[in-house]
Amino acid sequence: MSRVVIVSNRVPVPAGRKAQAGGLAVALRDAVKPGSLWFGWSGRTAAQTSENASVVEQGGVQYATIDLSHDDYRNFYVGFANGVLWPLLHFRLGLIEFRREHLEGYRAVNEMFAKVLAKLLEPDDVVWVHDYHLIPLADELRKLGAENRMGFFLHIPFVPASVFAALPQGGELLNDFCAYDVIGFQTVEHQRDFLDSVRIILRHQVDSNGEIAAPRSTIRCIVTPIGIDSREFQHVAEHSARSKTGLRLKDSLVGRKLMIGADRLDYSKGLPNRFEAFHRLLTRFPEHRMNVSFLQIAAPSREEVSEYAALRPVLNRLAGDINARHGAFDWVPLRYMSQGFARSTLAGFYRIARVGVVTPLRDGMNLVAHEYIAAQDRTDPGVLVLSRFAGASSYFDDALVVNPYDPDEIAEAMHEALLMGANERRRRHTRLFERLLSLTVESYCTHFLEALLDCTKSRAAA
Ligand code: F6P
Repeated sequence: MSRVVIVSNRVPVPAGRKAQAGGLAVALRDAVKPGSLWFGWSGRTAAQTSENASVVEQGGVQYATIDLSHDDYRNFYVGFANGVLWPLLHFRLGLIEFRREHLEGYRAVNEMFAKVLAKLLEPDDVVWVHDYHLIPLADELRKLGAENRMGFFLHIPFVPASVFAALPQGGELLNDFCAYDVIGFQTVEHQRDFLDSVRIILRHQVDSNGEIAAPRSTIRCIVTPIGIDSREFQHVAEHSARSKTGLRLKDSLVGRKLMIGADRLDYSKGLPNRFEAFHRLLTRFPEHRMNVSFLQIAAPSREEVSEYAALRPVLNRLAGDINARHGAFDWVPLRYMSQGFARSTLAGFYRIARVGVVTPLRDGMNLVAHEYIAAQDRTDPGVLVLSRFAGASSYFDDALVVNPYDPDEIAEAMHEALLMGANERRRRHTRLFERLLSLTVESYCTHFLEALLDCTKSRAAA
């Protein structure tokens, strides 16, 4: 049996789990089996990027991490991964700040990751790389002679070829994808857009099964959506809603309905439009005044990236405007908090909320949508308002699906959700929950790893 080696930018090293783990790391943690190795960045910066990994073992899993130098962190993580690839792949060309030195830094860190990882690799290991930070990793490993089966999963969207073409040296990056044996996507749309780029920009043949005929190998592109452990999350939510914090939230509502949003403080999440939608809800449907509270949690994220820093005062102002305009001496309509909460606390909040508002402008999947569905009380469930541009909308068509660019449409969906009768809520939730149960972390991993283990080593010698 081959060992599975997971590689991701962030690694939830057990000692530092809470502080370090991003969404991806939390999602994958449930999937990592004893015997695996998980390799990536420690989440720390240091004077020098490490040349050797520091390894800790827990529960039979080895966690191997390296520190990044301040310059590498700035160029790789802030400059290129989150200053260029993130806005590009979320359709926000206007936010890209491309600098050649950032791209060089991105490539240098991938090269360093490969050098350190190569020392830990066994010939029969299968290597599964996650997300846009590490696209060139397989190519760097292959340059060092690694012949392992290697797969890549993109957690975020891909864009149409005409949008991808805006990326300087984008052809080289597309070529880097071709060093993998299997590439996975959250939705059919992301897969199709990627294959179009490969066909149009690289001029490789692409067949209808998602196989790319590259000069040196065949690459299989598959759709395998990520999921959560829904039963477990449901239990956590039941418990958490009855906890001291859950009860405090309930008491504070004094009978009002709760709407909730919980996101990283990220421009891709569509928060200004969501706030505008809430303002319109209160203006156009005044029956909700005094009868609803909207709790928006926005966990600070990537604050060194200027676009993220710029969003914070915008949201502060919009939240202040809404409360000044609509609030009463005994009612704060919008409870806006820019801080993170433990996942278990959020689970209870979701269960208490009558409406879950998940309206990103673009999102690879958005696991908050999954979590909101999982957290509901089946006998009296809440309603999910979901952006059509979240990957989750490909799977959850019983949500109230909205165009997140239209605050009026979001407001109308909020209105409908707040008024929806129990029968209709139960009908929708039953179907959403069934769908949720089919999207498990296990099926995600099994599907991807089977494809990877299946692939023959067809790669021709360089
Ligand atoms: O979903 C995209 C992603 O970059 C994940 O890889 C990560 O878990 C999450 O967003 C949080 O981002 P960051 O690691 O930059 O804090």
